[in-house]
Amino acid sequence: MATQDELKRMAAEKAVEWIPENEYIGIGTGSTVAFFIEALAKSGKDIRGAVSSSKQTSALLAQYQIPEINLNQVHGVAVYIDSADEINHSLQMIKGAGGALVNEKIVAAAANQFICIADESKYVAKLGRFPVPVEVIGHARSLVSRQLLKLGGEPTLRLGFTSDNGNEIVDVHGLSIYEPVKMEIAINAMAGVVDNGLFAARPADLLLLACADGVKTIRPNVTI
Ligand code: 5RP
Repeated sequence: MATQDELKRMAAEKAVEWIPENEYIGIGTGSTVAFFIEALAKSGKDIRGAVSSSKQTSALLAQYQIPEINLNQVHGVAVYIDSADEINHSLQMIKGAGGALVNEKIVAAAANQFICIADESKYVAKLGRFPVPVEVIGHARSLVSRQLLKLGGEPTLRLGFTSDNGNEIVDVHGLSIYEPVKMEIAINAMAGVVDNGLFAARPADLLLLACADGVKTIRPNVTI
């Protein structure tokens, strides 16, 4: 039976087939994405440049000699490749275990197509077993946490962690996420919140899901 890492690698290698040559692409963050960067480099595909979502990804791009480009230098990216912590059947996601959610959402917003790559353990009927990360301005942490409690969640400060943007992250456990877009908007409306790890208003367009019997290509199955 394939391990979780083997499944992540399978999804990552499949994603290389979806990368157009001579275009700018966006690249997410995490262990699945690390497999993708390695596979992209080995493929020899010629991309114009990659917009990175984190310092971790930038370091990998440099290691594999993939040219990095700043988002301000391009009008957008043809495709954004990233993984998720959970993804539902509408391809809405919870992201941010790696703490790169703010920059990931920015690059995803600039993409014509968002392709999520994941192993089958990430595919869920309902979002919310995984905590929702909320990036906050440090001195607003307690204010935001009190409001998150009123939303029915249990906020926990991610100890010893600072995001690439210099902010803190509060992980919110136990939220009942029946309407992911409304929840994403409600959390972002709180003063002091930079962004949160619900990727619902802009879901993925395509999911490459690695299962024991191969990589499945999944499109969203309901209108949002
Ligand atoms: C980082 C993310 C990652 O995509 C998510 O945490 C999945 O990571 P991995 O591929 O390591 O399982 O959102 O902020």
